Amino acid sequence: MKGPGVGRDPTASVVPRRDTHLPFALPDITDEEIQAVTAVLRSGWITTGPEAKAFEQEFARYIGVAHAVALNSCTAALHLALEALGIEEGDEVLTSTITFTATAEVTEYLGARSRFVDVERDTLNLSPDRVHDVISREYVRRDGAWRHRDTGGRLRAIVPVHYGGHPCDMDALLAIAAQHDLRIVDDAAHALPASLGGRRIGALGCPTAFSFYATKTLTTGEGGMFCTDDDALADRVRLMSLHGISRDAWKRYAADGSWFYEVIDAGYKYNLTDIAAALGRVQLRRVEAMRDRRQAISTCYHRAFASLPELEVPRVREGFEHAWHLYPVRLRLDRLSIDRGQFMEELRRRQVGAGVHFIPLHQQPFYSRRYGYRPDDFPVAEAEYPRLISLPIYSRMSKKDVETVVAAIAEIVDESRA
Ligand SMILES: Cc1ncc(COP(=O)(O)O)c(C=O)c1O
Repeated sequence: MKGPGVGRDPTASVVPRRDTHLPFALPDITDEEIQAVTAVLRSGWITTGPEAKAFEQEFARYIGVAHAVALNSCTAALHLALEALGIEEGDEVLTSTITFTATAEVTEYLGARSRFVDVERDTLNLSPDRVHDVISREYVRRDGAWRHRDTGGRLRAIVPVHYGGHPCDMDALLAIAAQHDLRIVDDAAHALPASLGGRRIGALGCPTAFSFYATKTLTTGEGGMFCTDDDALADRVRLMSLHGISRDAWKRYAADGSWFYEVIDAGYKYNLTDIAAALGRVQLRRVEAMRDRRQAISTCYHRAFASLPELEVPRVREGFEHAWHLYPVRLRLDRLSIDRGQFMEELRRRQVGAGVHFIPLHQQPFYSRRYGYRPDDFPVAEAEYPRLISLPIYSRMSKKDVETVVAAIAEIVDESRA
């Protein structure tokens, strides 16, 4: 590392270092959310009820989809979506290796097998070309199904992930799915609100799961939403989200409810509380304003980093609207004397929170033990992962916060040019 400030223009305006830690993410909660939650707390009905129902209706209207089912996580929505499609032992599901484990663990819950696929270099989204290659190389059409040449497993579904909020090439993935008789379950944990060609993610004709986790672009603390136009899928997800007991079971203690219920199947406890839903309803009204702020932050970062060839900034494809849940930069390690870990440490020393999204799933002990993936099956993920750093991008960041992130990055780069 060179000495601090070597080669820096001494007349350039100096942004002071931070004297407090800037968290990587913060929820954007206003008095309106607090009042809405307080009203529920005072109401006497705090679990799933009228607020959850209203949240579902408002969310469905916003996305432009027939049904929205409020759940306590995106993981639950993904699990119930696959369950409703009948994914079971002996089945296989393709997904991106650059994602959070929740995307794949739901396949494992059902006793099915995950087959990870490499990503596109520009967006780090599931690559339709690689999906096509994997299907052609590893699966054969037998007895009306696509079966894995070695395991005999039946290929059933693809789970795309809109990495960081940049939509996947859904037209290409939907075409592959149609050609091979596969279902798509869309992991839109990062993609609210995002769209492609003017069509909103969630309204593309495939069952979709959104996340309202604390760091997400709409938060209910923990929460998620399942969306679909398919009446039967929505009914199954609703049933299985509350113990598999008959419709409107949540009403059984309400004045107009009935004590009688029937257990139709062994379901799960995945319902969203009214406390969380009240928070979500206010957040939904603010979801575009919050996105606009993140978009403005991304523009500041783009401009500031344009003069730093040591960094590659995320690019947005023409015709795609990005949710900007993440702002992942890639380090040009050949131009730097430090690696990603040291870069992260320098950010931490300068009180800037950062993250890495994601350690590729094929490298994780559970999946590599279970499936024995070879790194050369994932050349893009293997090359890009060691260069990735996610910078803070959230609507509560002030102009000064953004400036201090930019200044910290410029200083680290300046001190560590190769
Ligand atoms: C891509 C992706 N899918 C699914 C999830 C799971 O979301 P939740 O925490 O709401 O279950 C996450 C959470 O971070 C995620 O990043």
